[in-house]
Amino acid sequence: MLEQIKETAQWITEHTTSRPTTAVILGTGLGRLAQEIEIIDAFPYSEIPNFPISTVEGHSGKLIFGLLGGKEVLAMQGRFHFYEGYSMKQVTFPIRVMYELGIKNLFVSNAAGGMHPDFEIGDLMLITDHINFFPEHPLNGPNFPTGPRFPDMSETYDRAFLDMARAIAAEKGIKVVEGVYVGVQGPTFETPAEYRMYRIMGGDAVGMSTVPEVIVAHHCGIRTFGISIITDLGVEGKIVEVSHEEVQRAANEVQPLMAEIFRSLINRIA
Ligand code: HPA
Repeated sequence: MLEQIKETAQWITEHTTSRPTTAVILGTGLGRLAQEIEIIDAFPYSEIPNFPISTVEGHSGKLIFGLLGGKEVLAMQGRFHFYEGYSMKQVTFPIRVMYELGIKNLFVSNAAGGMHPDFEIGDLMLITDHINFFPEHPLNGPNFPTGPRFPDMSETYDRAFLDMARAIAAEKGIKVVEGVYVGVQGPTFETPAEYRMYRIMGGDAVGMSTVPEVIVAHHCGIRTFGISIITDLGVEGKIVEVSHEEVQRAANEVQPLMAEIFRSLINRIA
């Protein structure tokens, strides 16, 4: 595994002169941000040695090096989900490669079902913490030398980034909410009883990604920041039928606001 990671990182290093320290995972709803990146180099996942290939509709599968908010970034257009059948090692492979490439900051986005009773569809939720409810742990197996066997998780989502995001949202008049993201395997959306359970457990939103990538990034010492777009509600009395198309539509509508926060944050930190 380590050999594959190093081989992939070396291939990338040989194919671009760009050396960003910030990476962005463009999940559901943030795909359009890719169009705002001034591209230096872009590699379809299929061209990159050892890289998995993404299969789900709405994720096109490209590693982009370019300028965003005036800073060099590495952007993953399309991520790998556990529900697609990838192992946790495959889901988090790009994060391991990012570490080898010298990435220090990771920004992630996702679509999620809101469980906090005050949340509304279209809300942007700054992720303050998470609950890992995936059936397999991404750090399961021999420990990688990037971090300790038993990693501390007391501050997984960087507080300084959260403060900056709050300030940016206030300055620009963008409404944000905050909360705990519960990461589940999917691919089913939740039953009303499951939403209730995740809410009782302490979750504010639930989705099918992010947690594995963030855990591995954290283990690599990469500072992380994440936003969920609330695309549907898992709140008692407000639960209606939900589809992938609706999730994408709801996410699309607030894309520009989310992009604004990411762009400003990148501009201020890198
Ligand atoms: N549940 C799980 N994943 C999701 C949801 C949801 O309600 N909405 C968007 N992704």
